[in-house]
Amino acid sequence: MALTFGDLYARLTSAALDEIRGRIRPPASIVDFGAGCGRLSIPLAAEGYLLTAVEPSPAMLGQLRTRTGDRDVNAVECTMQEYRSDRKHDLALCVFTVVAYLLDERALRAALSAAAQSLRPGGLFLLDVPDASVFEGFDHDSGDIMRRVEIASAGASLYQFNEETTLRTDDGPQTYRDSFPIRHWRKEEILGATEQAGFVTEADVTARFEDLGAEYLLLRLAR
Ligand SMILES: C[S@@+](CC[C@H](N)C(=O)[O-])C[C@H]1O[C@@H](n2cnc3c(N)ncnc32)[C@H](O)[C@@H]1O
Repeated sequence: MALTFGDLYARLTSAALDEIRGRIRPPASIVDFGAGCGRLSIPLAAEGYLLTAVEPSPAMLGQLRTRTGDRDVNAVECTMQEYRSDRKHDLALCVFTVVAYLLDERALRAALSAAAQSLRPGGLFLLDVPDASVFEGFDHDSGDIMRRVEIASAGASLYQFNEETTLRTDDGPQTYRDSFPIRHWRKEEILGATEQAGFVTEADVTARFEDLGAEYLLLRLAR
């Protein structure tokens, strides 16, 4: 991602970190749903926040564990829908297209209900709603990396994400392919579902993430 998106990726990360720092202070407890390889969990843990990283992909979680170093991150291998814990967090994160991996209303409702259950009353929830532009393919070639991403419409807001990436390494080119379904949710659909799960809107913080491909919503658990 950093090789492909460069400055944009760095801006996306610092905007999210600034938003979080402005809302809660360490040692607040944060659950990062769809944490990936720890883009946010790792720097937040380094700042003294108590981090739980929830991620269903063993490969991504493996990367996160490798990169965590001596920073303490509670890594949990499951989907957002499956997550249950006695610990009630101060903030939940669900950002950088995680919501696009929820393919139907049932999955969306289950994921938002799990987010609500993971928080203390009054806890905050930062989630992004990817723009339609994110569902367009692209080609990128910057010397070290060549990516070809095709996103094919599969009807009814569903898409198939197809990627072929070649990394030019010292050991020669290494090619990787991936293909998985994603969904474009409209902001109104997400807001309807978050309301059902017990959230109210605290702020629309999209301005901080301008031109970064998504709207960012900050919600608060009402009960
Ligand atoms: C583009 S990455 C975003 C990673 C991270 N949130 C970030 O900001 O860098 C999307 C992640 O969502 C994960 N994911 C897919 N389905 C999920 C689900 N049902 N629950 C939680 N995470 C999911 C994927 O495995 C992937 O790591």
